[in-house]
Amino acid sequence: MRRAMYEAEVGDDVFEEDPTLNRLEEKAAEICGREASLFVPSGTMANQICLRLHAPRGSEVIMQEEAHIYVHEAGGLATLAQVQTCLLGKESGMLQPVELPKAFRPPGDDVHLPVTSLVCLEQTAMMAGGAVYPLETVEAICRIAHERGAKVHMDGARLFNAVVASGISAKEFARPVDSLMFCLSKGLCCPVGSMVVGDRDFIRQARKVRKLYGGGMRQAGVLAACGLVALEEMIERLAEDHEKARILAAAVEGSPIVDSDWSRPQTNMVIFRLREVSASSIVAGLEDRGVLALAMEDDERIRLVTHKDVSFEGTRYAAAALAGLLNSPRQGVLN
Ligand SMILES: Cc1ncc(COP(=O)(O)O)c(C=O)c1O
Repeated sequence: MRRAMYEAEVGDDVFEEDPTLNRLEEKAAEICGREASLFVPSGTMANQICLRLHAPRGSEVIMQEEAHIYVHEAGGLATLAQVQTCLLGKESGMLQPVELPKAFRPPGDDVHLPVTSLVCLEQTAMMAGGAVYPLETVEAICRIAHERGAKVHMDGARLFNAVVASGISAKEFARPVDSLMFCLSKGLCCPVGSMVVGDRDFIRQARKVRKLYGGGMRQAGVLAACGLVALEEMIERLAEDHEKARILAAAVEGSPIVDSDWSRPQTNMVIFRLREVSASSIVAGLEDRGVLALAMEDDERIRLVTHKDVSFEGTRYAAAALAGLLNSPRQGVLN
């Protein structure tokens, strides 16, 4: 990627004259089988642009209770899009089509009610431990929303993890939704960047909102060059990250201090809930052993994510450290 950055041919992307960036946008659109795409600096900006375009101010947006858009985007829903939320899927960490119809505001001109404008779903669902929404579920959610005049946005930050784990193509996942975004960072290894994907007219409007949000960039081909490497070379290898997550999961399995009701990994992450000890104490114990993990805000759950730059050997080392702490937590945390 560093070499690709160095060699990238560049131009001014605010005038749409950066050849490398133009190539990336064409390629991302093609992989997703949609008309157009737009490069943006982050997944957060990608989501917020889509919300701004799909959801009129004061309307209501349905999403999972711990969706990234709701919890981890610094209140962008309220400050940028200025919408309110209807939150579902607490138990499963995912939207369930059966719950959806009742969540929509009834049609009509009742002056008291907001209009339900949008449904957002996360592919993969982070708080469900990186679980994949099956294609039939995505299609069912889109059908329910579209029948009621609402749009669907897919926060596909880890779309390609879902593609590799399920064997369903990005085109199939992208077909029924009104917009989607995916991250070139994270598992695809780019230092910066996400793509917004959709119809040509939607992307034309998204370009303007990106400018409004300060995301219009000049010689951004140096970043797009990495994106092209990601799409050409980093997708299939995600299967290795999934295998590494299973190695970590084996270390969690059966621990007396882990709540047995955790989602076994389908992709590149492992999230589990602890009983009796805090997540931060285990994370501190791991850090002492050179392993970095994340304690979630509730200090009950730990998230581990695998990626290209942690080898299988490193993963096995991390799994052994984790198993030691989870099976004799007192000793592990005190040592
Ligand atoms: C599901 C999901 N959506 C969106 C984002 C935002 O991406 P970024 O960190 O590039 O803003 C993340 C980042 O972790 C994510 O996990």
